[in-house]
Amino acid sequence: MKLIETAIFEAMKLGYRHFDTASLYQSEHPLGQAISRAIRSGILSNCDELFITTKLAAADTYPGAVVPALRKSLSELGIKYVDLYLIHAPVRVKGEKRYVFTKEDVMPFDSKGTWEGMEQCYELGLAKSIGVCNFPIDKLKFLLSHAKIPPSVNQVEMHPLWQQNELIDFCRKNCIHVGAYSPLGGTGSFWGNRGVLHLKEIEEIARICLRWALERGVSVLPKSFNKERLKENKDIFGWRLSEDEVQIISLIPQLVGDDASHGLARPINQDINV
Ligand SMILES: NC(=O)c1ccc[n+]([C@@H]2O[C@H](COP(=O)([O-])OP(=O)(O)OC[C@H]3O[C@@H](n4cnc5c(N)ncnc54)[C@H](OP(=O)(O)O)[C@@H]3O)[C@@H](O)[C@H]2O)c1
Repeated sequence: MKLIETAIFEAMKLGYRHFDTASLYQSEHPLGQAISRAIRSGILSNCDELFITTKLAAADTYPGAVVPALRKSLSELGIKYVDLYLIHAPVRVKGEKRYVFTKEDVMPFDSKGTWEGMEQCYELGLAKSIGVCNFPIDKLKFLLSHAKIPPSVNQVEMHPLWQQNELIDFCRKNCIHVGAYSPLGGTGSFWGNRGVLHLKEIEEIARICLRWALERGVSVLPKSFNKERLKENKDIFGWRLSEDEVQIISLIPQLVGDDASHGLARPINQDINV
């Protein structure tokens, strides 16, 4: 836990201001600790200078569970509201929250009831904006058909091996901002693909992947525990990719099916709920 808090504190010192957490990650408390430390040491004057995102776990996607889940997250974080609250995935699982679950753990996902809970979070001022993660187009269409407040963000796995062109296009047309997680391919365990960092087409891979996502109008969520890489990952402003570089990336063969999506990303391109 101290390791997470220290990495976040170092990132704040370097100027990072958007932090993406989730009740599933158990990083809410360390983030809260890092915020207090940054305020105590004068790096921040208050937590309003940050943009904090957290997420509703798949174990809590049912009516009546959403507001209490966010209140618990806020208490872990030690703040009064989050800037963005996201449904972690269009999935409901039985029992405790966890990364790995089987088909037997999956229950029907109540899009309407869960989203009403998200809208309540907004109306109560506990979340400044609300959105989703890992929603494919059909689930977004259904959500838009019943939402009083449309989702402001869809956070999905996106990198040069899984470019999500159709989904980005749909989101753009429906004024839903896309956030790219695992922009460097992640760890490749429950999600992501380590192949990204070994793409022969791209030199200076991290910088290029992050800048490429930004130029597509997507926000990026890179993670690093390493101070030098935290610095490197910030060096994506004030320059552009050449047209040739953009063209080379657009031609990279795309992962499909199981190769592309694992874990919570699976609803994106598979007709199943896990
Ligand atoms: N909504 C969702 O369902 C969902 C799912 C997954 C992730 N996320 C969010 O997205 C964030 C990032 O995703 P992620 O951790 O899967 O993927 P990522 O940022 O693509 O990859 C992180 C990995 O890349 C390494 N790395 C970072 N910068 C690097 C650099 N400049 N050069 C080489 N390697 C580098 C890190 O190692 P070191 O630490 O050693 O640098 C770490 O192993 C997460 O923290 C989380 O907030 C959301």
